[in-house]
Amino acid sequence: MRKQILVTGGVGFIGSHTILSLHNAGYEPIIVDNLSNTHTSILDGLSSILGHSPKLHVVDCCDEEAMNAIFKLYNISGVIHFAAFKSVAESVAEPEKYKRNNLDSLQVILKLMDQHQVHHLVFSSSATVYGQPDVNPVLEETPWKEAASPYGWTKQEGERMIQAFAQSHSTFKSALLRYFNPIGAHPSGKIGEYPIGIPNNLIPLVNQAAKGQRELKIFGEDYNTPDGTCIRDYIHVMDLADAHVKALTWLEETPLQVEAFNLGQGKGDSVLEIIRLYEKVNQIKIPFEIAPRRSGDVEQIWADVSKAKKLLNWSTRFSSEEALLHSFQFEKMIDQ
Ligand code: UD1
Repeated sequence: MRKQILVTGGVGFIGSHTILSLHNAGYEPIIVDNLSNTHTSILDGLSSILGHSPKLHVVDCCDEEAMNAIFKLYNISGVIHFAAFKSVAESVAEPEKYKRNNLDSLQVILKLMDQHQVHHLVFSSSATVYGQPDVNPVLEETPWKEAASPYGWTKQEGERMIQAFAQSHSTFKSALLRYFNPIGAHPSGKIGEYPIGIPNNLIPLVNQAAKGQRELKIFGEDYNTPDGTCIRDYIHVMDLADAHVKALTWLEETPLQVEAFNLGQGKGDSVLEIIRLYEKVNQIKIPFEIAPRRSGDVEQIWADVSKAKKLLNWSTRFSSEEALLHSFQFEKMIDQ
């Protein structure tokens, strides 16, 4: 029998790809999603790739009663908690909304895991916990700077809540996965990043610029980097999805209780480099203009991923080229 894994936010960008990785690794994912920032066409894409409809409960993770009913319904052996708001700009405008949604949902998950004796949690954290590091690449033990946004603060606080919970619950274990910049899409083009409304992140905006739907703005060309634009560590979402399965199986075996892992390619690309690469692999011109810096942006950050390689036996399989190709492939499918 397949082990049942509760996946909150399983219809989202990283969540949906992880559903496939879980299924391929022999688990049965149970999705909980309030569908607040994804399109239901992702469900059609998922069902088409899987060959069946995944189990889905349209529930908000902050709703303890509804979540309790789901925990009762299944024999859950682990939880992957993606469900969260993730727009830096929106979090600045509405900090309370972020605090409530991102931390209350985690509180509910931890409480129910305790009540139902579920011991393994994979948590969606972010490179945002580091702020602007003094030295790159960043290691997991790099001390945190003050969060640059309320969104970033919810990720720092989420990690702290999990650490504190682990101290009073000796059988509880957790992998804190610090994502760098997830991009790409399933190579079939059937699922990918499909946010509601105007996207915030670079690649969905580049995709829309490629289709002539908007003009792309590069936020700042006067940073202290070789070409003046910010540097990030872009990682293919398929590689990220695999890391969740590796983290889950690692939790089943490790004597360690709570560990953080950086997940990136381990190299930095500038905004301009990414746009040029996108143009090259997709054979398309991206019109852009240079705009002022965006508030809250860090100048440059990329990951040291040796810990995930060593402990999780994980490494990336996809290049930035493939990620950008798959991203645009999915974007073109949206219109069909
Ligand atoms: C941000 C968060 C990250 C979070 C992610 C999820 C910070 C510092 N970063 O990543 O933790 O997980 O969002 O949403 O909190 N850019 C442009 N033009 C655009 C959009 C972006 O030039 O129209 C640039 C940005 O300035 C940045 C790069 O592209 O240098 C990547 O931006 P984005 O995709 O928004 O991700 P981050 O800000 O790195």
